[in-house]
Amino acid sequence: MDIFIDSADIEDIKKAMEYGVCSGCTTNPSLIKKAIDKLKARGENINMEDYIKMICETLGEGRPISLEVISLDADSMIKEAETLYNKFNSIANNVVIKIPVNTATSEDGNHYEGLKAIKALSEKGIPINATLIFTPEQALLAAKARAKYVSPFAGRVDDFIRTNAGIKFEKPDYFSAEGRKEGGRILEDNGIVSGVDLVARIVDTFANYDLEAKIIAASMRNARQVREVAELGVDIATVPFYVIEQMLKHPKTFEGIVKFSKDVVPEYRNLFS
Ligand code: G3P
Repeated sequence: MDIFIDSADIEDIKKAMEYGVCSGCTTNPSLIKKAIDKLKARGENINMEDYIKMICETLGEGRPISLEVISLDADSMIKEAETLYNKFNSIANNVVIKIPVNTATSEDGNHYEGLKAIKALSEKGIPINATLIFTPEQALLAAKARAKYVSPFAGRVDDFIRTNAGIKFEKPDYFSAEGRKEGGRILEDNGIVSGVDLVARIVDTFANYDLEAKIIAASMRNARQVREVAELGVDIATVPFYVIEQMLKHPKTFEGIVKFSKDVVPEYRNLFS
């Protein structure tokens, strides 16, 4: 499983690159806002175009960076995708365009704009990451429209299930992959019992038909959730920096380091002087 960093924060991206664990990066307008707000709070003035170029360059060739469009109709999304691709892909040949699988904002909206844009852009050879995926059906449609990646939002599925059941939780709280029983029945969203379950169903569905699209487990909230999607054999998990840190920590590792450091005999230490 490849690990992408789910962030537009250049400092976090640089750190993840230094640690050798980062095979790509995903952004969205909310992550860009977070990164820019942080810089503005420090009084730094940024030029958006230069900033994104810096991210593309930091990642380098072979490490995809997903940049998202902002319009909701196919024609405008196609134009925006081309703008992003033309502006930034020449830097390191690593730009992927994120298109929401469905840009409708309610039942009454137009539900096909996302798919139309995915199909048109894929035909032009622009790699697409179909985002905001909450069902295996959406993932299947995006893959059939030739998206290169599909991004199921695992953490937000857990949020949806917990919120609908009136359960209080903090964003990084673990939610069992097997779901949760309340009043004798398993909580679910149309048969999906957790975010990890959503990813598992998509992995199984794609395997049935040898679909080419890669699956990016997105909206990862904690280390255990990353472990669970890795156990499924998902292609990629895109992970916020705090989750990468969490993945590395264990009290017995800390304790082991303290003991090993104490036990170094001078004869052994002298080897290094
Ligand atoms: O990659 C998708 C991600 O940025 C959404 O994460 O934690 O806001 O649900 P989150």
